[in-house]
Amino acid sequence: MLREELIKRGVPMPDASTKEDWIALRPQIKETILREVYGEFPHKPDAIEYKDVTQWGLEEVFMAGDADKYQIRVEITYDGRKGSFPFNLAIPKAGRPVPALVAINFESGSPYKYQPTEEIIDNGFAIAGLCYNDVTKDNDDFSDNIAGLIYNGEPRTATSPGKIAIWSWAASLVMDYLMTRPEIDHKNIAVIGHSRLGKTSLVTGAFDERFAFVIANDSGCGGAAISRGKGGESIEKIIDRFPYWFCLNYQKYVGKEDAMPIDQNWLLSLVAPRKLMIASASEDLWADPNSEYLGAFAASEIFKLYGLSFAGPDRFPVPGDSFYDGDVTYHQRIGKHYLSRKDWNHYLPYIRTHLNK
Ligand code: GCU
Repeated sequence: MLREELIKRGVPMPDASTKEDWIALRPQIKETILREVYGEFPHKPDAIEYKDVTQWGLEEVFMAGDADKYQIRVEITYDGRKGSFPFNLAIPKAGRPVPALVAINFESGSPYKYQPTEEIIDNGFAIAGLCYNDVTKDNDDFSDNIAGLIYNGEPRTATSPGKIAIWSWAASLVMDYLMTRPEIDHKNIAVIGHSRLGKTSLVTGAFDERFAFVIANDSGCGGAAISRGKGGESIEKIIDRFPYWFCLNYQKYVGKEDAMPIDQNWLLSLVAPRKLMIASASEDLWADPNSEYLGAFAASEIFKLYGLSFAGPDRFPVPGDSFYDGDVTYHQRIGKHYLSRKDWNHYLPYIRTHLNK
């Protein structure tokens, strides 16, 4: 049924019938996605320093003493100019390297409603949370903080990065730091985000192969959802309110999804052979659960080339469905657009039971 749906919507599938075909295509696909949708990532900074700026006093107890909590400031020198952003980090005192999450957040504090730090620690994970607005504000001001550093007053070109690409780039700088911490199991680091930051999480994890798990919660348009034939938010609607999330080239596709050389399943496919977790909320029709599921379903064709699997059926999901028995997972929480404890209770046990050796 969904195969027919993909054909009906005219969703292009990558021309790959073996893993080798796909590997050969990947560089070109990455280039196309950045050029047409998100914009090109900034080049590597000249220098990066990570400063421990933890402010709480030594007497302060965090999580009954079961975890260490830090505030780290990322100081970037980029083309001779400097900028910075902070992130929070909590590491359980486990006495051995633990899996970790990079959470791309709406707020700077820890814990906050979408980052239940204590429960995450209790599950045996470390967590690093960065707030997207601390990197560069969620608006069309490309002179703000890290965007200003990158743009240096130059106008945007058709392919220069939108804000999603800049937030993703920042999440990869947090990943660089985690790679230096011996308390963290570097083979088992996930990236997670909700909604606009679910889109950002997908871009981060698709391009930064150090992330072993890529989680997109209610990511919708420009995220996991197939754009062609999508209900709720369309490219036209997202460009109307949030043009600056994407590169200028993306605007060519307003009302012209069919002209895109790719669809969102191509982005999702870049996560193979790592683990991809997609989730929807049943009442989140703006994001369109069916189109999110279709994205996962279509991407799983590429995972299959690696001998990997998706347990979801060849039909649209119904509220409450969850499919975990594979390398691509999907669940549809009953309720509203949100990153809830129920969602975390899907993600954390899955990661724990699928750790890389
Ligand atoms: C808006 C936007 C969505 C986005 C959401 C969010 O609804 O249209 O694309 O996912 O905000 O980030 O909460």
